[in-house]
Amino acid sequence: MSKRVKIFDTTLRDGEQSPGCSMNLWEKLEVARRLEMLRVDVIEAGFAVSSPGDFESVKTIADKIRGCTVASLARCTTKDIDTAYEAIRGAADPRIHIFLATSPVHMEYKLRMSPDKVLETAAEMVKYAKSKCSNLEFSAEDAMRSEPEFLARIVDVAIRNGATVINIPDTVGYSTPAEMREMIEYLIKTVPDSDKVEFSVHCHNDLGMATANSLAGVLGGALQVECTLNGLGERAGNAPLEEIVMAINTRKELYDAYTNIDTTKIYSASMMVYNIIGRTVPLNKPIVGANAFAHESGIHQHGVLANKNTYEIMTPESVGIKTNKMVLGKHSGRHAFETRLTELGFALSPSELESCFAEFKKLCDKKKDISDSDLEALARNTMPADTEDAFELDRFSVYAGNMTSATSVVVLRKGEERFEEVSLGDGPIDAAFKAIDKIVNPPEHSFEDYATHSVSEGKDTLGEVAVTLKMNDRLFVGKGLSTDTIEASILAYLSALNKLIRFSAKPAQNQG
Ligand code: KIV
Ligand code: ZN
Repeated sequence: MSKRVKIFDTTLRDGEQSPGCSMNLWEKLEVARRLEMLRVDVIEAGFAVSSPGDFESVKTIADKIRGCTVASLARCTTKDIDTAYEAIRGAADPRIHIFLATSPVHMEYKLRMSPDKVLETAAEMVKYAKSKCSNLEFSAEDAMRSEPEFLARIVDVAIRNGATVINIPDTVGYSTPAEMREMIEYLIKTVPDSDKVEFSVHCHNDLGMATANSLAGVLGGALQVECTLNGLGERAGNAPLEEIVMAINTRKELYDAYTNIDTTKIYSASMMVYNIIGRTVPLNKPIVGANAFAHESGIHQHGVLANKNTYEIMTPESVGIKTNKMVLGKHSGRHAFETRLTELGFALSPSELESCFAEFKKLCDKKKDISDSDLEALARNTMPADTEDAFELDRFSVYAGNMTSATSVVVLRKGEERFEEVSLGDGPIDAAFKAIDKIVNPPEHSFEDYATHSVSEGKDTLGEVAVTLKMNDRLFVGKGLSTDTIEASILAYLSALNKLIRFSAKPAQNQG
């Protein structure tokens, strides 16, 4: 009988901890809601002990998300386990996920523990975690560079002491599909009571093998795959959720498996994550890239017109890419607007809906046809102000040309106060940023990246700008949306500055 493969999403832990991917609480909650709509089985909401900010976000997600298991990562220490449990205890189905390294190089140089000590620690900490939480996952970090016999011993120890899920990570993306399949088959065959637990795989993409290795794990008997939206994660990333799910879906007979994922929600979830981290999707990204379903060459177009199966193994609709794009306009009312946003998978609060509708009306004055992409961009950008004392744009004007220095006047608000500055610059955006710097006087930082792209077709498209700033090795991404690129740039810069200022005021909260 076909087996159900559980999807364990770690976008908010392994994904979020990678450089340039940090999210604030509001953003994490939005991603968690998307994951719930996707019907993932487990959300790894974070690493609760790593900072007060992480603890708060894991707890908030655990308290609010009711449709999935919510997990927190913990090392094999009582403090980590206590903190993880404290954060997730309000979840509908809480899970503690503890890990301990098992490869010779990790045990000797990172843990500085003998193999026997590692076994003893695993036994003790699995038992301790089990006394708090019945749903308990044990990960053997760097499993794929561990001695198989030792791995089998520690898996046995974890099962005997109460683990319900055994995760086999390819922590450094070293494995091959054949090795991964063989390892899972070996563990299931060798370890007593292996049929009482679920085996899981967690693959990194250093050699571009994460998807192939995860699927090989499924062929070997794994019943859970750990992955992230868009493959975010340490270094080259983790296995991308969208690839794993669509591979299983497209080749059901081969894998003799299925997942519970609503695949039609994949595209919007992926776009939301790209938007939050201020990146655009690579054109040729499998499943969600703009070219993933585009047929350019004459031979391909001819084939697809004759029969889609010639070059299309799945449909754009199956992952939620809409082909009927134009939806609303100037005469559309609040009800139609709200209904369409709900259809697109957004669940905005009444105040967010209010401000999003106001932005929609403003956009209708500038743009005749409002597409789904425009609506999604508006909704994604409907964020509450970063903090109560954040700087907000009141108004600006620029004077620029190719024969003159650009000048910009910017007026910002903070609470009831207004601040005005003027600056020259090398172009209107530079002039505006310099005027903002004069008002805000931010802590020392570097300007890392500026990216802009159009949200939809047409010269009147909304432009989305992402600005990335860096301070003390931490990245702060701000985004802005407008039909005017200068305004979008100012909004993006202000949003990044507000995050940076808030972080420098409260570094321990780790909410950049
Ligand atoms: O890659 C890894 O080994 C991990 C574990 C903590 C599961 O992320
Ligand atoms: Zn990992």
